Amino acid sequence: MKENERKITRRFFFGVLGKTSIIVALLAEAIGAIKAFIPKVLYEPPSKFKIGKPEDIPEGITFLPQHRLYIFRNNDDFHAISAVCTHLKCIVDWKPDQREFYCPCHGSIFSQAGINLTGPAPKPLPWYPLSLAPDGNLVIDSSKQVKPDYKYSL
Ligand code: FES
Repeated sequence: MKENERKITRRFFFGVLGKTSIIVALLAEAIGAIKAFIPKVLYEPPSKFKIGKPEDIPEGITFLPQHRLYIFRNNDDFHAISAVCTHLKCIVDWKPDQREFYCPCHGSIFSQAGINLTGPAPKPLPWYPLSLAPDGNLVIDSSKQVKPDYKYSL
């Protein structure tokens, strides 16, 4: 055996293994401690939001893609329904000829009142209450639900 060749002994092997285990355990503990400082917060869009001035909302049914809902306007009456399918959250399409909402993902059909008629959707589309903000904008509160016959009148 050459003089500069090191022989790996059992004692050396277990010594290295033990030190490595301690370092890995300390690193795991440190990562856990650092993660404790990162807040576990789910950032969601606010449930109350403005959709614009009533005079800017056209008569009939308007899709607001940024809010994922439909606004119905009949003169001074407004109501809002979610466009999010109650099955797996696809966006439903309004079919004016049939006066129904169709989900392009798995074929659920909802009546104009949001009632789930066919398909895998387990629940109706929710309707949201509206109010008027002091600055004259219509406000929707998607944290609450109202009945399909609810209307906000100016
Ligand atoms: S997501 Fe609408 S039917 Fe499945």
